[in-house]
Amino acid sequence: METAGQEKNKSGNLFVSREKLKKAIGIFRYIRPYMGYFTIAMILLVAGSLIFMALMGLPGEMANTAVGKPKFNFGIDVRDYGWLFLVILILQGLLSYFRTLYFAIVSEKGMADLRKDLYNKIITQPISFIEERRVGELTSRITADVEQLQSAFSITLAEFIRQVVILISGIAIIVYWTPRLSLIMLLTFPAIVIVAVIFGRYIRKLSKERQDQLAKTNTVVEETFQSFSIVKSFANEWYESIRYAQSVDDIVRISLRFAKIRGVFFVFIITILFGGIFFILWRGALMVQNGSMEAGDLFSFIIYTGILGGAIASFGNLYTQLVSAIGATERIQQILESESEVEIKPSEKVQPLHIRGDIQFNNVRFAYPSRPDVEILKGISFDVRAGSKIALVGQSGAGKSTIVQLLMKFYNPLAGDILVDGQNIQSFDITAYRRNIGIVPQEVILFGGTIRENISYGKTGATEEEIIRAAELSNSMEFIRSFPDGLNTVVGERGIKLSGRQRQRIAIARAILKDPRILILDEATSSLDAESEKLVQEALDHLMQNRTSIIIAHRLATVRDVDCIYVIENGKIVESGTHEALTLQNGVYSNLARLQFDPVIG
Ligand SMILES: Nc1ncnc2c1ncn2[C@@H]1O[C@H](COP(=O)(O)OP(=O)(O)O)[C@@H](O)[C@H]1O
Ligand SMILES: [Mg+2]
Repeated sequence: METAGQEKNKSGNLFVSREKLKKAIGIFRYIRPYMGYFTIAMILLVAGSLIFMALMGLPGEMANTAVGKPKFNFGIDVRDYGWLFLVILILQGLLSYFRTLYFAIVSEKGMADLRKDLYNKIITQPISFIEERRVGELTSRITADVEQLQSAFSITLAEFIRQVVILISGIAIIVYWTPRLSLIMLLTFPAIVIVAVIFGRYIRKLSKERQDQLAKTNTVVEETFQSFSIVKSFANEWYESIRYAQSVDDIVRISLRFAKIRGVFFVFIITILFGGIFFILWRGALMVQNGSMEAGDLFSFIIYTGILGGAIASFGNLYTQLVSAIGATERIQQILESESEVEIKPSEKVQPLHIRGDIQFNNVRFAYPSRPDVEILKGISFDVRAGSKIALVGQSGAGKSTIVQLLMKFYNPLAGDILVDGQNIQSFDITAYRRNIGIVPQEVILFGGTIRENISYGKTGATEEEIIRAAELSNSMEFIRSFPDGLNTVVGERGIKLSGRQRQRIAIARAILKDPRILILDEATSSLDAESEKLVQEALDHLMQNRTSIIIAHRLATVRDVDCIYVIENGKIVESGTHEALTLQNGVYSNLARLQFDPVIG
């Protein structure tokens, strides 16, 4: 039953499942802190709607008064109506102003809270969370979906309630005022509603199709813009252009179908509505003629019928918007419900963890969550004493980076244990533990901002002296000084572009500032040529002093004097020992070494 219900919803059913509705209502917790404003806004809304309905009855009553047959005995004559209108309009204006303002306060502040929560939730997720999703998709959760909720809370919900109030009070008024005419009218109402329901269903389905297609198109845009250089290097502008054009054309096709159906919808509503109105007008005119009703009452009746028709016509759109807001809520709630791996808390609240830096891998097995059937690590065991240096070498794809990712607790091993200082890393608080690990990756990504900000990312709140020292130790100060703005030079998208080795040295400065007990160099020098490698190597040597260091390297020259080299092949350690020992062994390593050190003889 449940799945059948969900199936139906996908195809744009009118009804929202109870499950979904419950989730949607859950989002009201973001409104709760502003409940005072929300309640006042609601009261103003209802009051405003009722006053509006009363106001719409005044012209008819004024007409009755003018011919000396008022229905209600207000005791005022036609001249006083001018003042009455003025007072009511001013009052109405005030109500509208505060209602709009208060709904805006509630929705802006509530949705800002939601955005922050959503952002925090996403950045506290484990790495696998991002890997399983497209960045564009997550971005649209936090932008488009929240935006949709925002307009639901500030406009759609209010409008919906306003129309409900208008509908109920409108029917009550005309039934009281002109019972016979109303009866005829109410007989035509259900027909309009049924047509609206049937059309609304198609419209919703198409609207969703259009949104999905739009999201697909945006993904193309985002992917190609983000990987601009890849598109260029493959000279695939033509291919992407076609891909985008097709996607956009699909939107047009769906949108036009959407527009046609919507057009037919409006035509139908208008035809039935006006057909009905003219029929009733004619009946009303007959009643005025035979004296069973005042002309002013017919006038009021026409006005109210028009308003009621408008209210009913607006329900289709409003309902669609509310349903799509409920859809947005559901997607947002899914993210809010997922389990974070860390908590957001200020540095001083993190219970510090001081480790020595002994590392032990015990028969660690691992497969990535995205490919659970492919075992990447097949029983890795090794032991590193605090303060020593080890190297992981082996072909690309052997599993070296995976080993350090597990050490950083980006993922959990499927079997086996990883111990640091003899304690399973599972037992550590992730934030406190990761503070102890520094990494210099192969491809350094700098944030858009100043060099100073990028260096101090290693230790937020570092002093000027610390930053300069780190820049000096990492051999970066020289090139930083060559920029007119020095440490305040803006890098990244809107600033200057640093070279690979310059970025590398910034990354080293970051790591120096962080002063980690365990240092990971994941092919930190492999993108550099031998000449520039020297400067970076010097900086790295500085950095490696007095810490446990794990060096992943392609070029064996950089790992010659580590305490132990582990040769990884296909997820297993196939050889280990010092450079000298391994060279004598005539195994994988000595083969590699011969190729690299003695290319001519080898
Ligand atoms: N996030 C990931 N999801 C799925 N598979 C991955 C992921 N990262 C790496 N792999 C796969 O794991 C294997 C080992 O990768 P990696 O540890 O990066 O190798 P190395 O660093 O030795 O070059 C490769 O086959 C790679 O395709
Ligand atoms: Mg790697």
